[in-house]
Amino acid sequence: MCGVVGAILRDQPALEGILDGLRVLEYRGYDSAGVAAALPEGVAIRRRAGRIEALRAALEDAALEDAALEDGALSEARCGVGHTRWATHGPPNELNAHPHSDQSGRIALVHNGIVENHQELRRELEEQGVEFRSDTDTEVIVHLIARELERLEGESGEAALADGVREALKLVEGYYAIAVLRAGPEPELVAARQGPPLCICVNEVGAWLASDVLALLPHSREVVYLEDGDVARLAPSHYEVFRPDGERVERSPEEIEWRAEDAGMAGFSHHMQKEIHEQPAVLGRTVAARVGDGDADLGSGWSDSELAKLERVQVLGCGTALHAGLIAQFLIEGLAGLPTDSDYASEFRYRSPRLVPGTLALAISQSGETADTLAALRLAKELGCHTGAICNVPGSSLVREADSVLLTDAGPEIGVASTKAFTAQVAGAYLAAVRLGRARGEIDALGADTLLEALRGVRAGLEVVLGDETVALVKEVARSNQDAKGFLFLGRGVNYPVALEGALKLKEISYVHAEGYPAGEMKHGPIALIEPGMSVLVVNSEGGVAEKVRSNLEQVKARGGRVIVVGSDEESLALADERIPVPATSEWVSPILNVVPLQLFAYEIGLLKGCDIDKPRNLAKSVTVE
Ligand code: AGP
Repeated sequence: MCGVVGAILRDQPALEGILDGLRVLEYRGYDSAGVAAALPEGVAIRRRAGRIEALRAALEDAALEDAALEDGALSEARCGVGHTRWATHGPPNELNAHPHSDQSGRIALVHNGIVENHQELRRELEEQGVEFRSDTDTEVIVHLIARELERLEGESGEAALADGVREALKLVEGYYAIAVLRAGPEPELVAARQGPPLCICVNEVGAWLASDVLALLPHSREVVYLEDGDVARLAPSHYEVFRPDGERVERSPEEIEWRAEDAGMAGFSHHMQKEIHEQPAVLGRTVAARVGDGDADLGSGWSDSELAKLERVQVLGCGTALHAGLIAQFLIEGLAGLPTDSDYASEFRYRSPRLVPGTLALAISQSGETADTLAALRLAKELGCHTGAICNVPGSSLVREADSVLLTDAGPEIGVASTKAFTAQVAGAYLAAVRLGRARGEIDALGADTLLEALRGVRAGLEVVLGDETVALVKEVARSNQDAKGFLFLGRGVNYPVALEGALKLKEISYVHAEGYPAGEMKHGPIALIEPGMSVLVVNSEGGVAEKVRSNLEQVKARGGRVIVVGSDEESLALADERIPVPATSEWVSPILNVVPLQLFAYEIGLLKGCDIDKPRNLAKSVTVE
């Protein structure tokens, strides 16, 4: 999703730091990029379709958009904003790339979000003589700011940029994280948030803003998260935050535990590969911090008094996070005995859900900023639910808004394909199920210890699955299946969401068609696809449904499909054309082990097909718009 960066520095150029920030945000997905700098004469803007490298080359070119300005001046500017755009309104070309400027060429703006009433505002501004230069919804905001500043200046002689921004935003419907600068002898930089995240920090060099905390980590680990409705004025040595009515509020910095180097590649070829291999450590960390004596220790938001009142759980999430949510449904029902549903957050919010009092709405999200998941959680809150979150990003909107929070401690996940966050979410769901079971008296202390011991043991299993032998085996299986006509992933029970996740990973990373199905559903339709040339990955571990899956597997074989078994069920492994054995473990935790060969498989197929593993086409890491 779009990335926003900005800086206003004491006495050093801002542009290089802004470009570095944009590079950190590349992982979020984008199709064009741009920067603006505040110069005494006006704003200087450079934008390019494509990668940041194209923008960098443009910055080195001779001509500036405003020919009156010198290139040297641009790179010397102390105040600037930058943007990576993921196109929503208008194709990803130079004119639609941000920043956008007002007609006087003194104000420039970058935006992440959507202006829902942009057509109406555009008509109104055009009637007032504004000439638009892009197809974007964003451009209306910069013209509105210019108009409101002019009005305020007409009333009182002068107006601060922050006041113009506040006034303009009263007219905007939708979601935004914006950074706005005004050029002049004393440049001004303002940030505002309604929906998508925005944070700021100040260090000895100056003040910085970004839509993602990772871009601020090289500058400081003390970060201020803006709240919805906040408008912040940044100066080189401080910041001030105002509410929409102009009231000044305090927003204190929070200490971030992540380090800038956590977002590096650590010698791996891709972030995805590194993150797959980080899973034993992530699991170890997540579990070590949460395992208490005879119970899971999730912290104060998960007290007996709240949890004992619960009658139901409604799990919400999108994509991979929902797959973890489907596993959570099995775990919470199976271990804690609590009726549980799960739903796509994007569907839940539009289907008039009927939630009984005593429902825990449990949102699962890596980023904590997914627009649909946040909207679903807010709706559940309005409907009177206790809200919970399993989330990986401290300080994210979800973490700030949910009543009970379990942080997964996977560290920054940069690869667009979610891997370590998924296994951490499943571990989190398992811990939550144990806590819920204890609070409701469904699990006693001894039972909890046994369950937690099984989870603790998964780390060793992950080390085996990520050992050289299994990695080499997956590589071989990927090579022999790379030209398959199609891929079907099957699983059952707690491992059926693993089949969905395996198919999603393959689609995302290698652009080949893959379907994930509950194995028992195969005979109701997908079986028609089975013929020689079709590769079928069957996830099967020992447990209650192993025998059922075996018979589904036989049905595939009988129709000439190529069967690859992933799991610990020996009989299935023996029946397979190819096999990736996974260490035996309790059925409840088996998804954490079984998903790993599927992640590796997607990675290897993606490599064989020459795909851009960490920046798959059309995808954004965090989907902060609908
Ligand atoms: C997973 O590989 C995806 N890229 C995607 O499905 C993701 O899980 C989904 O968009 C939800 O994101 P979140 O966990 O940040 O809410």
